[in-house]
Amino acid sequence: MKRMAVTATALVAAAALALTGCSGERGGGTDEGSSAEETTGFEAGSTIGVALPDKTSENWVLAGQLFKDGLEEAGFKADVQYAPASNTVAEQQNQIQAMVTGGAKVIIIGAKDGKQLATQVQAAKDAGAYVIAYDRLIENTEAVDYYVAFDNFKVGELQGTALLEGLAERAGHEAPYNIELFSGSPDDANSKVFFDGAMSVLQEKIDDETLNVVSGQTEIAQTATEGWLAENAQNRMDTLLTGSYSGETVLDGVLSPNDTLARAIITSVQQAGKPVPVVTGQDSEVESVKSIMEGIQYSTINKDTTLLVEQSIKMVQQLQAGEDVEVNDTESYDNGEKIVPAYLLDPVIVTKENAAEAYANVPSLLEIVESYQ
Ligand code: BGC
Repeated sequence: MKRMAVTATALVAAAALALTGCSGERGGGTDEGSSAEETTGFEAGSTIGVALPDKTSENWVLAGQLFKDGLEEAGFKADVQYAPASNTVAEQQNQIQAMVTGGAKVIIIGAKDGKQLATQVQAAKDAGAYVIAYDRLIENTEAVDYYVAFDNFKVGELQGTALLEGLAERAGHEAPYNIELFSGSPDDANSKVFFDGAMSVLQEKIDDETLNVVSGQTEIAQTATEGWLAENAQNRMDTLLTGSYSGETVLDGVLSPNDTLARAIITSVQQAGKPVPVVTGQDSEVESVKSIMEGIQYSTINKDTTLLVEQSIKMVQQLQAGEDVEVNDTESYDNGEKIVPAYLLDPVIVTKENAAEAYANVPSLLEIVESYQ
């Protein structure tokens, strides 16, 4: 298995070099700290730390189990910790520090607040450990080696496109369409990237008046959902409905950054006795997949957690063996101190129409889809 992975890595690295025409630098890396020349490997069977945030969506719940099983299967000792829902930042900082003290060779971090981990990841570096930012970037530090995630900007683009397509399909009238915008938690670096990706599609449609954000709230700060909490999205939607959609004004669509918030937004609209608008999502959570199949939520995104965890463990194996670490993006993720070499996976948009195809490799979701057909 390992041999095969190494061979594949070497091939990919060679192909990347051929494509970019760049020579010398391993893995396309542009930063000294990330250069694989410095990778010396470490003892097989070492401890790998995995610090995950609070469980704000199903993907985080799944990731913990997959990391534990996958790392142990690969022969490592796994120390998987979640930050609790309260005092999350401080607890995560403590957990990472404890992993460093405990001698973890790689620390994989799904950050609660990627701006508040510089001290802990520097301690990891100083102790000779590697740091991989998982799903969410860690900001303002040199001490993060790699980033592994689904392409967050593309997630946003797909959401923006789905909103436009859903409106054309379901609004029941020609443009202009009345919409509202929601974004994720401001302490999560992904939130801005998702929003920027969506606005790269929607802004021109707002400018040419195809779309009308009736509340006028188009700045990310106005649209944010603190803590990614459903109740915060539901409260904001309640307020928007009262303030901007009384009387004849119909809400046609809502940009929602994930499924948990999508369902909260839909609940708010239903409780107000109004027709459900076109609502986007992300994560392919079970309840949202059902809702999509029932024709309520319009879309979600498939970011298969299994693949993301597998890719992370592959990085750990490459580091352990002292091999080049495979990355496919060395431009996009500037964390304020460095461009973090990244391996980005491809997110897939899912609507009722393509659900069976989109979940062809996700048996648990495919089963749900098929139960509606
Ligand atoms: C993840 C999303 C998730 C959100 C809330 C983000 O960082 O990329 O998949 O919906 O956190 O948990």
